[in-house]
This record gives sequence, C-alpha cells and structure tokens, in this order.
Amino acid sequence: MPLTRLEITDFRNLAAIALEPLSTGFNLLYGYNGSGKTSLLEAIYYLSLGRSFRSGAVGRIIRHTADKFCIFAQSAANGEQCIPIGIERQQQGDGKIRISGRDAQSVSELADLTPVQLINSHCYSLLDAGPVFRRKYLDWGIFYLNNDFLRIWRDYEQVLKQRNAGLRSRRPRKELDAWSEELANKAVLLDQARREYILSLLPILNDTVAELLAFPNLEIRYQPGWDDAVPYREILANFYEKDCLIGYTQNGPHRADLKITINGVVAKDILSRGQQKLFVCAMILAQGVLLKRCVNKAPIYLIDDLPAELDTVSRSKLITLLSKQDTQIFVTAVERDALSDVLSKLPLKMFHVEHGNVTEVI
Ligand SMILES: Nc1ncnc2c1ncn2[C@@H]1O[C@H](COP(=O)(O)OP(=O)(O)OP(=O)(O)O)[C@@H](O)[C@H]1O
Ligand SMILES: [Mg+2]
Repeated sequence: MPLTRLEITDFRNLAAIALEPLSTGFNLLYGYNGSGKTSLLEAIYYLSLGRSFRSGAVGRIIRHTADKFCIFAQSAANGEQCIPIGIERQQQGDGKIRISGRDAQSVSELADLTPVQLINSHCYSLLDAGPVFRRKYLDWGIFYLNNDFLRIWRDYEQVLKQRNAGLRSRRPRKELDAWSEELANKAVLLDQARREYILSLLPILNDTVAELLAFPNLEIRYQPGWDDAVPYREILANFYEKDCLIGYTQNGPHRADLKITINGVVAKDILSRGQQKLFVCAMILAQGVLLKRCVNKAPIYLIDDLPAELDTVSRSKLITLLSKQDTQIFVTAVERDALSDVLSKLPLKMFHVEHGNVTEVI
C-alpha cells in the first residue's frame, strides 16, 4: 500500500522531516551529494523490512546526536482508510513496531502491508555476484505470494543447520540418515515453491526485458541446487562420504540459482553497465507485475540515482515502464533536470532535499 504521509525523525542526517508523497506516480527527490536522498529511501525501506540496505548497526543509522530514530507513515490503498504504521529503534537496539495503534508481533507484518522493491547500485549483484543474491530475489517474490513460504524456508534452513552440525561433529550414520530424510522432505517443498514461482514469473520477465532491451536468445533457467536428473534423497546418499569429509551439505535448495544467458553466454559477460542496469530493473519490475496480478498488491519502488549509467533513451524507456506499474515510486537524482523533462508528462511530485531537509517544489 502506498504511503500518503511520511514522518522521519533522527534517521541519518534527517532530523525531522514530513512529506505527503504522491500515492500513484513519481516522487522525485533531488539534491546535492550528501543531502539525504538515499537516507530517505533507506527510511522507507526500514519501515517495510525492519532493517537497512546499508549498515546493519542501528547506532550508525540513528542521527549522531540522538538516542533513537522514528519513522511513521500513513499507508492507504486507493480510496481506503489510512493505516498508521511506525517503527522506532534505540541505540541499545530496543525497538517498537506499531500498526494501527497496536504493537506488531513481527517485522513481517509490516513487510506484508507495504512491500518495497529497491533498485540501487547493489542490484547489479543480481547479475554479477554469487547465487545468494538471485536466491534472495526469488524468495522475496515467493514470500509475498505464498503464505506458507516463510515457514517452509525456515524449516529447511533449520534442518540443514542440524544436518551440518551432525556432519561436523561426526555423529553416527543412523542419526545423519534421519537428518537427511528430514532435509529431503523439506527440500521438496522449498524447491516446489520456487519452481511454481519461476513458472509464473518467466513470461512476465521475458516481456519486461523485451521492453527495455532487444536481446534475442535470452534464457533464464532455474537450477534447484543439485543435479535434478537424480532425486534429492539419492544425491544426499551419494554425497554422504564427501559431505562428512568437508563437514557440510554440498547439495540442496541452499545452492539454488538462476542461470541467465544470452546466446549461451552468461549475461554479465555480454551486457554493458547500462544494459545490466536495465536488465536488473526488468527483473525487479517483473516481480512487481506478478505480485499485483496475483494478489493485487503493488510494491512501492525505491530507485536510487535513476539517471546513473543510463542515456536519455534508456531513462525514458525505464520511466515509461515504471509508470505502467500504477504504483508509488520514489526516485532520486542529483540534478532535477536529469529527469524533470521525461517525468513532466506523468503524475509527479518533486521534493528538494537539502542538508537533511525536504521541501516540496510546486
Ligand atoms: N548517523 C548519522 N547521523 C547524521 N548524519 C549521517 C549519519 N549517517 C550518515 N550521515 C550523513 O547523512 C548525509 C546524507 O547521506 P545520503 O547517503 O542520504 O546522501 P545522498 O543525498 O544520497 O548523497 P549522494 O548524492 O552522494 O548519494 C551524509 O552527509 C552522511 O554523511
Ligand atoms: Mg545517495
């Protein structure tokens, strides 16, 4: 659900700001380096996920002279009643999450209410870093569509930990076989959820990529984390000795990946920097389209430094595609002119960010 009002106190250099962003359309935040643009996106992200995409330490996030930060928002679906949500964190790590005037049980309640999708320079990792980023990408999408997924994922991770601990401490074969059996049961569920998700996502992803880039023979293939010509139970049995030797489980959904190739060559080795950015944006936007289609819940997009690496044609294509999402979008740029032309014909609010203050430009 979009945010209709946002108040941030003592978060990074944002001492006390309040803004009323556009619910459907673009919110352009512009200002010089160090003015607080990324911090503002970071605060919205924190409000959704209870963590930062930068430093993990809360002490780094709280404004230097303060002892806690607060983020408060009114969140409302089109024409529906506003839901007040808020998060507060203290130096010592204590914190509170409030939804509609009550304490929330967990961060996932917030995430469920206001899903956000972040696009920043770290997103290149989706293409050029290890599989963990692509697994997180997959799992983000499944989490919002499949109510059982968090439990399935946690169950698998827990059993995996126990099997690995057993392997390291050289527990008897009988005991390890029991863990292997349990792990195989959990792995099937996790793999199944990922396969189902990929099946729904791929057609949308192919269309989205095609709107931004013209690359024939693009292939995105799911790899479950083991040679799936062989049932996972058998793989665990076949690798038993090797697993014992190195002290962890080598195969399984914790090694899953998405193989992205163009003409059979890994995409990151072919695409230019700007093309990589467009590709990654397409991947992220495709998830949003699927989410909206399946559960009518469009994520809020946070796009840090949208103009970076993109020429004017690419910027325009990306913005056109974003505008079709029919959702709330926060975009940052150092120079207002880098985007104001292409955005001027679209629903837009502009905010000037300066030394931690935010003013709406009318
Ligand atoms: N805990 C903190 N307390 C106060 N200021 C902080 C804190 N953490 C970071 N800052 C400062 O906040 C400012 C805003 O940083 P931010 O990354 O939001 O800037 P930005 O507008 O995104 O800049 P750029 O255009 O360079 O990306 C920086 O000057 C940074 O040093
Ligand atoms: Mg920044």
